[in-house]
Amino acid sequence: MGYGELIIRSYDAQNDRGRVEDFERRCEVGPAKRVFLFTDTLGDPMCRIRNSPIYKMLVAELDSQLVGVIQGSIKLVTVHKPPNDLAKVGYILGLRVAPLYRRRRIGLSLVIKLEEWFIANDVDYGYMATEKDNEASVKLFVDKLGYAKFQTPTILVNPVGHRRFRISPNVELAKLKIEEAESIYRKFMSSAQFFPIDIGNILRNKLSLGTWAAYPRGESWGEVPSSWAMLSVWNSGELFKLRLGNAPFSCLMYTKGSRFIQKLLPCFKLPGIPDFFHPFGFYFIYGVYGKGPLSGKLVRTLCRFVHNMASSKSKDCKVIVTEVGGSDTSRLHIPHWKLLSCPEDLWCIKALKNEERENLHELTKTPPSRALFVDPRDV
Ligand SMILES: CC(C)(COP(=O)(O)OP(=O)(O)OC[C@H]1O[C@@H](n2cnc3c(N)ncnc32)[C@H](O)[C@@H]1OP(=O)(O)O)[C@@H](O)C(=O)NCCC(=O)NCCS
Repeated sequence: MGYGELIIRSYDAQNDRGRVEDFERRCEVGPAKRVFLFTDTLGDPMCRIRNSPIYKMLVAELDSQLVGVIQGSIKLVTVHKPPNDLAKVGYILGLRVAPLYRRRRIGLSLVIKLEEWFIANDVDYGYMATEKDNEASVKLFVDKLGYAKFQTPTILVNPVGHRRFRISPNVELAKLKIEEAESIYRKFMSSAQFFPIDIGNILRNKLSLGTWAAYPRGESWGEVPSSWAMLSVWNSGELFKLRLGNAPFSCLMYTKGSRFIQKLLPCFKLPGIPDFFHPFGFYFIYGVYGKGPLSGKLVRTLCRFVHNMASSKSKDCKVIVTEVGGSDTSRLHIPHWKLLSCPEDLWCIKALKNEERENLHELTKTPPSRALFVDPRDV
């Protein structure tokens, strides 16, 4: 059977918004047989990339039909490789091809076109995240496009209940000013892999609800406590909502945000699980850091504080999510339900410049113990 020419072009909000939303609605996705997950991008299909410094969405058309989409964003981050530790990275997300048009190289063509845009913008490395067992995606990126497996972070998910957690009276909590949070992150976390140099923009973004520190009561924050911990909170629910439904067709953005949420599907009937049938949002905890012998306990207290904040202040925040490096021990202290969490997310990376190809080997063998900064804009 004959097919017309595949056209890949930039997303044009005026003409494509409705078509992309419709495309997403028509896509049948998700492992569950009868229950489906809807993503509501609140009328803006580019909402997930709009907070990044540079971003682009491409659409693929065949015989005037929309058959695929992809999004990308670019930023400058810490990446451990000689001679310096800074690199421009391009993040690939939201790749999807209409089921009837799969295995026709449309996905491949979309990624190649996005890589061309990265290269035109002087990007050193392209990277993407996927579920370890998404065979189509892993084969496409690793086998076909030469991406290397790079990190296997852990996504931790905790449902928000009505019950408030008790905050230990031995712990002092303080909300940090943005400037202070920025300077502490720069001092202690700037060597973490993928630490974004525009951290200040993240902290100043209206989706950032704040940064909190915890330390033992009786000590002074100004004099560097014997143990302390900090984290920041991002309100992803302002960007898009999720909802379970029984419709025959639905669409799911294959994103980190929705990969973890798919874990909810088999257990949505369990007692104690909030009602996921009405649109709901989630908080993303980022920049978890602790120092000193009590830092684990302090991280736990901060997470409980965030739970209480979600439970009392947000009408629709039903889960709290965080993502930390595979060997980051802070995960032991972050409250989560194993059932809902994803122990091994898979990040893959590719050098887009000849001179970076040699560094890639160094980079992919970086000890997994090195901290990883998961940018809330990548969720
Ligand atoms: C992943 C996805 C985008 C691939 O799109 P596609 O247009 O079907 O892929 P292509 O035809 O370009 O495939 C290129 C290569 O990828 C690999 N590949 C793609 N789909 C595959 C599958 N289902 N099983 C095994 N390998 C697959 C193959 O190596 C293929 O080359 P080949 O056909 O010569 O063997 C598509 O399956 C999809 O939309 N999936 C749901 C959303 C998703 O998972 N997105 C990825 C998020 S990172």
